[in-house]
Amino acid sequence: MSKQTVLTGITTTGTPHIGNYLGAIEPAIAASENPAFNSYFFLADLHALIKCQQPDRVAQSTREIAATWLALGLDTQKAVFYRQSDIPEITELTWILTCQTSKGLMNRAHAYKAAVDANREAGKEDLDDGVTMGLFSYPILMAADILMFNADTIPVGKDQVQHIEMARDIAGRFNHQFEPLFTLPRAQVNEETQLIPGLDGRKMSKSYNNTIPLFCSSDELRRLINQIVTDTRAPGEPKDPENTLMHLYRCFASEAEAAAMRQRFIEGIGWGAAKQELFEYLDERLRGPRQRYLELMDDLGAVEAVLRRGAQRAREYATPFLERVRHAVGIRPLTDTRTTRPRKATQEKEMSEEALARAEEGRRRAILLQIRPLLERVEQAEDKAAAAAALIAEKSAEVETLKKKARQKAQNELDLLKEELAAYL
Ligand code: TRP
Repeated sequence: MSKQTVLTGITTTGTPHIGNYLGAIEPAIAASENPAFNSYFFLADLHALIKCQQPDRVAQSTREIAATWLALGLDTQKAVFYRQSDIPEITELTWILTCQTSKGLMNRAHAYKAAVDANREAGKEDLDDGVTMGLFSYPILMAADILMFNADTIPVGKDQVQHIEMARDIAGRFNHQFEPLFTLPRAQVNEETQLIPGLDGRKMSKSYNNTIPLFCSSDELRRLINQIVTDTRAPGEPKDPENTLMHLYRCFASEAEAAAMRQRFIEGIGWGAAKQELFEYLDERLRGPRQRYLELMDDLGAVEAVLRRGAQRAREYATPFLERVRHAVGIRPLTDTRTTRPRKATQEKEMSEEALARAEEGRRRAILLQIRPLLERVEQAEDKAAAAAALIAEKSAEVETLKKKARQKAQNELDLLKEELAAYL
């Protein structure tokens, strides 16, 4: 069996924090050590342009995120590590997919809907106020990121799951319309690592302004840990061991260390002392990678070279694959006179039978949803046979009064009612 491909992107708008590290970077690096997978990790700088109009911020974030992954030990011989904007095939694929994506699908994207809802709440007349086409089409660029490399598994946060499902939809539609070229991707969400608390106890997130930057200085780390919100229990009083300090400690510590720390909270360690311990523990753990990070940030030419080489490797896959996609949609050299081979008749038939069965099942389910209240009425009646007969008579009469389309719809409902109530009739 060919290797599975794992792929994920990081939008380059912020400074990596402890939540990013535990939730995304560390598990991704660990997965890339597994020889059963091909890994593609990239800096989603084209996505950054959607959210951030500060050019220096985007550029700086791209440096920081690249250096962070390398400092944490990503092996770029194994994983393909690149910058999205270095792969022109991705933007070209985005356009090809845009032409296959229904606007209605994009209307349902959470990020777009949130923007529209905010406008509605603010009483704005133009519900699309402030919405760029970039924001609207965000999921298509993301689908291109994923489909470009035929990735199977996409580790993401919960907020991104819908985007992966959209990528699946878009791939399915292309495969059906043209040629089955694209793998249907699946999201992988790790519930456990979604819950890293920030300084105020809420999920650590840039949007809550409660983060601890992964590679801040020792002094800054101490200052931030001292800001972590606790209750007012005095030293010596037992503490609830399910607190933010404990939770952060547990994310880094071994099980035995975590159990010992937990016990100390129960025994009443003071908050100040606990913060000091957490600080010392994290500072010790982060010292080595922080040092490497600072060295890399001082040698950005080397980091740039790593990304360039990653882009070259990514394009070794993307360039020939995009060529096939182009051919499939009809973008071909004039001299390329291969025509699209019609699917073999038998294959076509099998597929269409399966597709028909699926469509029929969907149709039944939709009608059942409509007639469920009627069926419930019969189920609740004392004399079910009489209720069923009355219902069928009523529906039959209704069918007679209707015209064309409405009549067909009512007839379909009547047919299904008869099927469902056969036991009583
Ligand atoms: N949109 C993702 C985020 O904000 C980043 C991203 C861009 C991504 N392209 C991707 C993630 C492709 C997974 C796969 O988190």
